[in-house]
Amino acid sequence: MSNKRLIVALDTNNLSKAKEIVSHLNPEQCMVKVGLELFISQREKILEYLTSENFEIFLDLKLHDIPNTVSKALQAIQEFNISMTTIHLKGGKDMIKAASETAGDIRLLGVSILTSLSEDDIELTYGIPFSNLFQRLLGIAQESKIDGLVCSSHELEYLKEFKGIKVVPGIRNQVLDDDQKRVMSSSEAYAMGADYIVVGRPITDASDIQKKIMEYS
Ligand code: C5P
Repeated sequence: MSNKRLIVALDTNNLSKAKEIVSHLNPEQCMVKVGLELFISQREKILEYLTSENFEIFLDLKLHDIPNTVSKALQAIQEFNISMTTIHLKGGKDMIKAASETAGDIRLLGVSILTSLSEDDIELTYGIPFSNLFQRLLGIAQESKIDGLVCSSHELEYLKEFKGIKVVPGIRNQVLDDDQKRVMSSSEAYAMGADYIVVGRPITDASDIQKKIMEYS
């Protein structure tokens, strides 16, 4: 089993804190995720640091704009050593096409429906049930040149036939009193077909980060 299926989320805006977490990580064991908070606060400083430490970087930008703007944003990140990044599938097929044409060697992942949205939110915004919206977005993803999807562990069951990369956040091996509601353990997620799992606080807040890395790998 390759340890590189684990992506550790560096969810902080503080460069020293990010470096402190990274000092416990091994680039042979995991990738790292830089989200908007860290990217906006530290921009090239964090990307250059992670590159110098030989980490593969998942830059989670969740782009959602007109095709030209998304395409230009993807061009702008080409100068960094980014392995994967994200766009929203709801941006439409022209946006997805423009993004895949510009992504180059960066693997492009589509975000389907944010896990923070409930069934009621989806009904209110789109007037259709969650599962219908998910299936529609999946259809759009399958007809595009996107490399993979970010999805919740509970959507993995709909993705058995999906050929692309499946990246799954919301993973918990122990019950934590936090904001993740629909969770699954790492071994269940891998067994259900996750190619990568994204784990933040259970690893970054642990007193023994290396031990947690082994547990989630
Ligand atoms: O600390 P925790 O393990 O909950 O962190 C999960 C990471 O995955 C965070 O960076 C969060 O933004 C991200 N994420 C998520 N749910 C999604 C998409 C991304 O929790 N649907």
